[in-house]
Amino acid sequence: MLSNRKFGDTGLTVSILGLGAGQIGMSDVPESVASDVLNGALDLGVTLIDTAASYGLSEERIGRHLSHRRDEFVLSTKGGQAIHGYPDWSVGSLSASIEQSLRRTRSERIDIYLLHSCPVEVLRRGDLQDTLDQAVAAGKIRIAGYSGDNEHLAFAVDSGRFAAIETSINIADQWNLRHVVGPGTGLGVIAKRPIANAPWRFAERPSGNYAELYWQRLRELQLDPRDLDWAEFALRFSAYAPGVHSAIVGTAKLANLRRNVEAANHGPLPKAMLSDIEQAWQRVGSDWASST
Ligand SMILES: NC(=O)c1ccc[n+]([C@@H]2O[C@H](COP(=O)([O-])OP(=O)(O)OC[C@H]3O[C@@H](n4cnc5c(N)ncnc54)[C@H](OP(=O)(O)O)[C@@H]3O)[C@@H](O)[C@H]2O)c1
Repeated sequence: MLSNRKFGDTGLTVSILGLGAGQIGMSDVPESVASDVLNGALDLGVTLIDTAASYGLSEERIGRHLSHRRDEFVLSTKGGQAIHGYPDWSVGSLSASIEQSLRRTRSERIDIYLLHSCPVEVLRRGDLQDTLDQAVAAGKIRIAGYSGDNEHLAFAVDSGRFAAIETSINIADQWNLRHVVGPGTGLGVIAKRPIANAPWRFAERPSGNYAELYWQRLRELQLDPRDLDWAEFALRFSAYAPGVHSAIVGTAKLANLRRNVEAANHGPLPKAMLSDIEQAWQRVGSDWASST
C-alpha cells in the first residue's frame, strides 16, 4: 500500500501518489473505464484525487462513481472562471464555481479548493481570497489554495492567504521547486504534471502537444534513467522532491496507475541519479521558467 504524508499544517493526510483526474474527464474515455480508474485508485491506497471544473466530465464522474466512498479520499478541485453569466475571476464566478463543484462531485464539502491559475493581478485584489475564507467559514471548503506557477505562485505563497498550493514539479520543470516550494512553509504541496506529461512516448517532436516543451527539455537535459523505466524515474523524482506531499500523475489507464503505485513505493531515486539530475539542471536548466 502507498504511504501517506501530512499535508503541511492543514490537518489533512494524503498519499504520496495522488490521481490526477484530468484524463478521466475526457468524453472519449468510457464511463466504465473512468469508474475502474477511480475505484482502482482508492483500492490501491491513493487517498488524494485532483480534479477541476474545467476537466470535462471529471467532477461529475467522481460524484457518480465515488460518492459512496467519499470518506476514503481527499478531494481537491479548482475553479474561479469560465462560469456562464459571470466575468472570469469575479467573486460571483468563484462562488458559483464552488457551488457547481459541490453539486457535481456530490460532496458536502470540498477538502482542497484551489484558484485555478489566476494571474498576480487578480491575486493582488484580495477579494477572491476573502471569498475562499468565507467558504471555509461556511463549511463548503476545508482548505483554500492556489494552483499555478512562477511569479504568480510566488506571490500567492508570499501573501500568506493560502494553506495549500498545486504547482508543476518534474524532472524537466524545477523552477517552482527551487524558488518557492520548500520544507517548513506549513503549506500543503501538490506536484502537478509530475511525470512531465510522459514526453518519452514521442519519438519525434510532438508539435502542438502539451508535452512538446518537456520533450525538448528532456533532449537538452540528456538524462539517463539507467535501469528504470522513464515513468518510474520521473515519478520518484517528483514524489520525493523536498517539500512535496503528493504527486498527482494523470492517467485514464488502470495498468499505468498500478505501475505508478509500484514506482512510488520504491522510494526516492538513488543519490547518484539525483546528482546526475542536479548536474544536468545546472548545465542547461537553471534559467528555465516553469511551463504554464
Ligand atoms: N492546476 C493546473 O493548472 C494543472 C495543469 C496540469 C495538470 N494538473 C493536474 O495534474 C495532473 C497530472 O498532470 P498531467 O496529466 O498534465 O501530467 P503527468 O501526470 O505528468 O502525465 C500524464 C500523462 O502520462 C501518462 N502516464 C501516466 N502514467 C504513466 C505510466 N506509468 N507510463 C507511461 N505513461 C503514463 C498519461 O497517459 P495515460 O492516460 O495513457 O496513462 C498521461 O498522458 C492532472 O491530471 C491534473 O489533475 C493541473
